[in-house]
Parts: sequence; structure tokens; C-alpha cells
Amino acid sequence: MSSRLPNMNRKVVMANRPVGLPKLSDFAIVEAPIPEPKNGEMLVRAHYLSADPLQRYRMDAVSGYGKVLAEGDVLKGRLVGEVVQSRHPDYKVGDFVEGMLGWQEYAISDGSTKRAEYAPGIARVDPKIAPISTSLGILGFPGVTAYFALLEICKPKAGETVVISSAAGAVGSLAGQIAKIMGARVVGLTSTQDKLDWITGELGFDVGINYRTTPDLLAALKQAAPNKIDAHFDNVGGDISDTILQHMAWHSRIALVGNMSRSDKTDRPPRMEYQQYLMSSRVLMQGFIVYDYEDRADEARRAIAGWLREGKIKYRETVVDGFENAPAAFISVMTGGNIGKQLVRLVK
Ligand SMILES: NC(=O)c1ccc[n+]([C@@H]2O[C@H](COP(=O)([O-])OP(=O)(O)OC[C@H]3O[C@@H](n4cnc5c(N)ncnc54)[C@H](OP(=O)(O)O)[C@@H]3O)[C@@H](O)[C@H]2O)c1
Repeated sequence: MSSRLPNMNRKVVMANRPVGLPKLSDFAIVEAPIPEPKNGEMLVRAHYLSADPLQRYRMDAVSGYGKVLAEGDVLKGRLVGEVVQSRHPDYKVGDFVEGMLGWQEYAISDGSTKRAEYAPGIARVDPKIAPISTSLGILGFPGVTAYFALLEICKPKAGETVVISSAAGAVGSLAGQIAKIMGARVVGLTSTQDKLDWITGELGFDVGINYRTTPDLLAALKQAAPNKIDAHFDNVGGDISDTILQHMAWHSRIALVGNMSRSDKTDRPPRMEYQQYLMSSRVLMQGFIVYDYEDRADEARRAIAGWLREGKIKYRETVVDGFENAPAAFISVMTGGNIGKQLVRLVK
């Protein structure tokens, strides 16, 4: 072991299975010796951890898809970091990689590139293209999600109206900007004035609606989209989605991307009977899981990196410093504390 490394590794584990919104007491930080890479492996030091809503799904006893955690397991989570020891022929000390290596300061990778279904496969990160933190946000899985869910399911055409929920988040803020690039009119839903100012100012969304304070969301949608809604990029589900459904245009499209409105719920409130709306308006509703596009992820990254270079898209990061603050950063995402991508910085 290199003398420059500390002795111990810290990991965030699930101490208790959360009910509804996670609490700090649902997490614990444990220490273990830093592992030694075997032949064909490398040791990665995390620079940033990614706080993602998907981590919450893995903490449920049963999830819609993919494995769930047992109490005491290291939190599933992405990190970007630097190779600090290598016994892998293709990676050298100083290389940067990103992957689902768990919420810990040091992680072993065998260099696998299998990333679907929460596999710990890694991808190389080139710090010359963009800051390494973007590999967890705009150039990472949130970016790939925004790109393909929008272009393959919402399919916005010039002049159409697209509604995006969680519009100031990592995925939503990019999806809205890509829809603008496609020539669509974009309506974003979010929860604070800061976020509304950002999406309608710097990001160029046409309308922002505060779904928490608007007394009548349907009336606000009718005003924002007088010709009805052609595509809904649905990050939240629940009542918000049911309301939007009532104002969808004929032959419109809905991408089911996330379910944030469930994050603080412990029961299953009754949903609207939506069959009639879908049928009479000939709406296409399709579920989206980013792993179905893993083979095409580079296509999305190249396009997004190009738009970034041309100044056509902007991004923001909400950065919390310190490993011990990772659970709080995760809870903050679940309660809307983030603008853009929520990160935990471990190395400055
Ligand atoms: N299907 C896939 O393959 C895939 C892949 C990646 C991400 N996702 C999903 O995409 C969505 C966005 O992910 P992200 O990483 O970009 O997160 P994010 O949008 O940056 O952060 C989550 C946001 O959810 C909003 N929120 C929290 N509680 C809410 C509630 N009760 N009702 C409505 N909104 C609520 C908050 O924004 P406001 O201030 O606007 O409320 C919060 O900032 C999530 O649902 C995530 O699970 C899906």
C-alpha cells in the first residue's frame, strides 16, 4: 500500500430501510481498511459522489426493477475518481474513471465496462473535455437519460409544446434545453423562484410554473400551452402527471422517466382513471430506463459535449463538501434542495 494513502476507507451504508423520505439515521458511515488491488484490478480514489434519486429506489424492500439493498450494505451510487494504484494493463495511476462503485472514498474496479442494471462497470473520463464532475451529470447518466427519453419518446418537433417536470434538476434542465434546440416551446415545472428564474432566464424555457404554489395547475397549463401539450417529459408522476394528462394534445407523447412525487409518500394514493384520456387523445405513453441506451451512451455524450462547446446548453451543479455530508446531500435531492446536479466533493 502506498504510504501516501490513509489507512482507512469510509463507506456510507444503509443503517435502516427508510420509510418515505430518508432520514439521517437511515445512514451510517463505517470504516474499513483500504483494499489492495489484485492482479487485473485498480484502486480508485473518489473525487465526487453523485447523489441520485435512483438510490432511493434501491433502498426499498422491493423495487420495480434491479436489486435492492440489505441493511448494512454500502449505498449504491456513482462516483468519479482517480486511479491511485493499478495492476490493470489498460489503466495507469492518474487516469480518471466514473462508475457505480458505491458510496465510498476508495473502490476497487476490475476494469469491467458492463454498466447496465447497476453493474459496477467503469467508463474513462477525459478531464480535457470538461470538468470531471460533469461525468456524473450532463455528460453522465442524467445527460444520457435527458437525451434519449426526450429524442426517442417525446420526439419534439419545431413549434410543438413540451412540458418538463423537475425542470431545474439534472435531467430536466438538460431535457428542456434539448427540446429548445429542437425548436419546441418548453414549459418547466419546479418549486422555487430561484429555479424558475434559472430555467426561464439562462436556460431559455418559455414558461416556468411553480407547481407547489400555483393554486390551479390545470389552469396554469392551459394558459402556458393554449394549443395543448405535445410531449410530457415526466420526472415526477402522481397528481402532477394526472393534471398534465388532462391537457395533452391528440397524438402526443409521454415519457415516464421518474417518480419524484412518491419520494415522501408511504401510502399509495388513488390515481386518476387515465385510460379515457389516453384513448380519446391517442396519447402514447412509454416507460424509459436509461440502461436500455447504454450501448448508445457515447452518441448522447458526443452531442451534448458539442452543444456545450457551442454554448447552446448550460448546466449547474449544487456541490456539498465532505464525505460525512453525503447522506444529507442525498436527502436534499429528495426534497428539492438542489439546482442542477447534486454532487458531494471529496477532493478539492
Ligand atoms: N428512468 C431512468 O432511467 C432514469 C435515469 C435517471 C434519472 N431518472 C429520474 O429522473 C428524475 C430526475 O432525476 P435527477 O437526477 O435529474 O434529479 P433532480 O431532478 O436533479 O432532483 C430531484 C428533484 O425532484 C423534485 N422533487 C422532489 N420531491 C418532489 C415531489 N414530491 N414532487 C415533485 N417533484 C419533486 C425536486 O425538484 P423541484 O424543486 O422541481 O420539486 C428535486 O430537486 C428522477 O425521477 C429520477 O429518478 C430516471
